[in-house]
Amino acid sequence: MPPPTVREPAFSPAAERNKQPILEVLLPLLGARGTALEIASGTGQHVAWFARHLPGWSWQPTDNHVAALDNVSARIAQSALPNVKAPLLLDVLSPAGLPIDTPPFDAIYCANMLHIAPWATCAALMQGSARHLSPRGMVITYGPYLEDGVPTAQGNLDFDHDLRLRNPDWGLRQRAAVEAEAARAGLRLQQRFALPANNLLLVWTHTV
Ligand SMILES: C[S@@+](CC[C@H](N)C(=O)[O-])C[C@H]1O[C@@H](n2cnc3c(N)ncnc32)[C@H](O)[C@@H]1O
Repeated sequence: MPPPTVREPAFSPAAERNKQPILEVLLPLLGARGTALEIASGTGQHVAWFARHLPGWSWQPTDNHVAALDNVSARIAQSALPNVKAPLLLDVLSPAGLPIDTPPFDAIYCANMLHIAPWATCAALMQGSARHLSPRGMVITYGPYLEDGVPTAQGNLDFDHDLRLRNPDWGLRQRAAVEAEAARAGLRLQQRFALPANNLLLVWTHTV
């Protein structure tokens, strides 16, 4: 009898390239243990990598696409990671959100969503994160941003142009505009890390 077919999860070359530089920031930032919520898990490559290298952290992946949840499930099964929960369907724009009795998270991580989703997801991400973040927790966003006073790399300008052609509601976000949405949610930018390929990792904490 042929062996059962094992479904190969989708693969993102970009996620594969950036998962280690991100991990190198996360390791000293997160410490030994805690609970993390991932928004927009996509292929699950990030959560699988971080869970393997931060074994004291428990990870809850989520995405708003069922196909992404299937990918994450397949990847977790493939990697046999005990510290990753089954992925949940979570659309940051949905008023339903997470169950109200969900314990707060020590970290909420969202990579590469804000520019590939309508601008309204920024306010929703910040508001939802502020609700579900523990008092001393951090929201971590990663991706390309536009910044006042910092020349934008040509690659990012081209990427922005491509995104807007694909969907006029998409595009690279101004860091200052993201900060304004965070402030409305009671969060402030605590740290900024410049990572390869003109990406930033931004750390947000409660204002008070
Ligand atoms: C470019 S992928 C990034 C995936 C992964 N975080 C990474 O960096 O490789 C963007 C992801 O955002 C998710 N997404 C888009 N809109 C969303 C929303 N409203 N709520 C939650 N996830 C969303 C998509 O389903 C997709 O998985």
